[in-house]
Amino acid sequence: MRTADGRIVLGLHRSGHARDLLEAAADLGIKRIDTASNYLRHRSHEILKSTAGDLLPHFSLSTKVGFFPEGHSVDPARLRTAVEQAVKDLGREPDVVFLHNPEHSASDTGRLGLACAALADTARAGLCRSWGVSTWDPRPLVDCDVPCPDVLMVRAGLLVGVDVLEAAESLATRWRPSLLWGMSPFGGSTAQQVWERFDPRVFLRESAPATKAQAAFRSAYGLPRVDAVAVGTDNVDHLRELTEALAYEVDENVVQEYRQLLKARQLA
Ligand SMILES: NC(=O)c1ccc[n+]([C@@H]2O[C@H](COP(=O)([O-])OP(=O)(O)OC[C@H]3O[C@@H](n4cnc5c(N)ncnc54)[C@H](OP(=O)(O)O)[C@@H]3O)[C@@H](O)[C@H]2O)c1
Repeated sequence: MRTADGRIVLGLHRSGHARDLLEAAADLGIKRIDTASNYLRHRSHEILKSTAGDLLPHFSLSTKVGFFPEGHSVDPARLRTAVEQAVKDLGREPDVVFLHNPEHSASDTGRLGLACAALADTARAGLCRSWGVSTWDPRPLVDCDVPCPDVLMVRAGLLVGVDVLEAAESLATRWRPSLLWGMSPFGGSTAQQVWERFDPRVFLRESAPATKAQAAFRSAYGLPRVDAVAVGTDNVDHLRELTEALAYEVDENVVQEYRQLLKARQLA
């Protein structure tokens, strides 16, 4: 088994949760997997336990609560019950439990602090090691105050608009998480036309022999600057390609120029 750091988080949002994939991830030295109570039609936790329960101790496991079969909720009591259920379904305490897309209960952002406090309580009670907030669209949250999360997860990469990028950065400044994670570096799919139309290798230093997917993935660590990136794949070759991408260096000047272009376009 290779040793790798925790900079890649294997995200299971679009995954079939095949055992082979998790075995390969462990072999590639991937240390983190990320799921949510609602992934795989609300069955991700129980499927993980039944197909790969013995592999789970190899990983730091994060999950998310907030989406219920009846809809989204940030109600503190429901969130606590969801964490208790996650522990039962997984057969272990998660390392991180995120509040999942709290912006979905936008009219409830006044209660966001209470929802976060409820998750912090579950960590104190030993139901999980740490807690965080994962947000697809941080813009409605930028004026909210919450207890300091252990991890904040935001969208990252070349497809993130400047308004979302800036909102994520201001949330990180305001909430001071111990770790900032990025997610969805391909915007959910590498089959989108945008990836055919432009070559993200311009973001890498010198002429690295990288693939376009590697360049897009590696660039995501700087937009915004994050400690780890949650990326999805069910393909072991793709996963290997992603682990190898970490060796490439990003040209910070190109990233800065790109940000200036995004900003100029927003203001135009
Ligand atoms: N709000 C939230 O909390 C939230 C929202 C979205 C995502 N996330 C997290 O972020 C994770 C990743 O998001 P995502 O899966 O939506 O989007 P993503 O990582 O941007 O894209 C996943 C797609 O990229 C393809 N891909 C990955 N590596 C590739 C490679 N080397 N070459 C070619 N194609 C490649 C995969 O196809 P193949 O299977 O064919 O490789 C997959 O269809 C999720 O699983 C979840 O953990 C969280």
